[in-house]
Amino acid sequence: MERKTTHIPQADIDRQLQYCLEVKEVYQSRGVQPLAFVDTYGCQQNEADSERIRGYLRQMGFGFTDKEAEADIIVINTCAVREHAEQRVLGNVGALVHTKRKKPDQLICLCGCMMQQQHVADKIKQSFRHVDLVFGPHVLWKFPQFIHGLLSRRGRIFQIPDEAGSIAEGIPVVRQDGVKAWVSVMYGCNNFCTYCIVPHVRGRERSRDPELILDEVRQLVAEGYKDITLLGQNVNSYGKDLDNAMDFADLLREVNAIPGDFLIRFMTSHPKDATDKLFMTMAQCEKVAPVLHLPFQAGNDRVLKVMNRRHTRAEYLAKIARLKELIPDIVLTSDVIVGFPGETTEEFEDTMRVLEAVRYDALFTFIYSPRVGTPAAEMDDPMSRQEKLANFNRLVALQDQISEEKHRAYIGKTVRCLIDGTSDDPRWTLTARTPGNRLVRLDGPTDAVGQFRDVKITDANKWSLYGELV
Ligand code: SAH
Ligand code: SF4
Ligand code: F3S
Repeated sequence: MERKTTHIPQADIDRQLQYCLEVKEVYQSRGVQPLAFVDTYGCQQNEADSERIRGYLRQMGFGFTDKEAEADIIVINTCAVREHAEQRVLGNVGALVHTKRKKPDQLICLCGCMMQQQHVADKIKQSFRHVDLVFGPHVLWKFPQFIHGLLSRRGRIFQIPDEAGSIAEGIPVVRQDGVKAWVSVMYGCNNFCTYCIVPHVRGRERSRDPELILDEVRQLVAEGYKDITLLGQNVNSYGKDLDNAMDFADLLREVNAIPGDFLIRFMTSHPKDATDKLFMTMAQCEKVAPVLHLPFQAGNDRVLKVMNRRHTRAEYLAKIARLKELIPDIVLTSDVIVGFPGETTEEFEDTMRVLEAVRYDALFTFIYSPRVGTPAAEMDDPMSRQEKLANFNRLVALQDQISEEKHRAYIGKTVRCLIDGTSDDPRWTLTARTPGNRLVRLDGPTDAVGQFRDVKITDANKWSLYGELV
């Protein structure tokens, strides 16, 4: 059971940085500023990975573009969690045949969770011959070496070793945003929910050294970041593989102790590992935002069991009740799957009941999508697509109503929000987030971006709040 995490030696990362310089020289000798296009699908974990890919690209001397046609290197960081995400990737990759025809030196690179599946890599090899490089999440740290390889010899590179996963520290990053930042605290997942591809493509759980996490947060706070999200597929397992006795609640407390005016968020939490200690810590730490994303997936105990979620509806609801008791204004969000193989409409009613009992502020709803190699993909799935859609639509309608009611309850209140961006809509030039991460649209000067400001909420609908600076 005990397994030591492999850390990539610093000398190996240094070698990658050396490859970056060699790649830089190749492009410099061509006499033009090379440009890269990086596109990211999927979750924040992938966003965080793309920041490292950009970090490497910058070391290689690259600038960035949002036009595929002018890019010297295209990187598409893919997601495998549902078929829809995969179809979009394949459609977009297919279209790159045309850009490459006009720019034959262009390097097309695919990475991320979708590529870690052998059947996908095989398909790319056979049917997408314009793709030069395919690599999985475990070898992202070798990206410079792959680019170097492509430039020094003709031939495509496919690298998707199947491993439990390692931790690579010290890779440069280029962050997309100056206000909000992601900080990975752990990688991988050990839970093997029967529908889910993530453990198959991301390897086993491994926690980063707490000191390195704290250093990264201190650095971000010093750079002016105001909203820091600690990331992991199941952050509640943090520390289980470390020698010291630190768990996720302890880590939260230490991050909270870092001086500065900033908010701490985290995702995702698995209900089975969400402890009273975590809830108490959230309640006691003033920088930890009053919001919890706690996916319940299904409301019926038989379905939960077949999903291998390892908790019951009653256990889940008891945790929510405890959390509401400790933090009355807690904002709650969740993920739900409709149409899991064998789920009947009667069982689905239990999912509807959870919504009514909890009253989430927002919900991420998905129709079950079979994933090759997962146990659920082999299960009998007799319900018609039509019936699943009907259930799905009822779920969304109920949630829309709850979201709108919860949002309207903010009207008239003044909330300290983080102004986090601008928008093109002249009526609402700024976007902001409440501590609970609800979107607020308002008008104001663009130099307010990055500031915490009091906002009076004047209107709301199911998607967002509207307000004005006070
Ligand atoms: N680690 C996170 C979730 C990662 S995947 C957690 O355990 O909560 C994000 C969400 O996608 C899941 O919560 C689930 O609701 C959904 N999902 C995962 N696999 C799916 C599948 N095969 N079909 C439909 N939805 C799926
Ligand atoms: Fe997937 Fe379950 Fe792991 Fe979340 S906890 S990533 S749903 S296997
Ligand atoms: Fe998708 Fe991989 Fe995240 S499958 S949801 S990008 S961990």
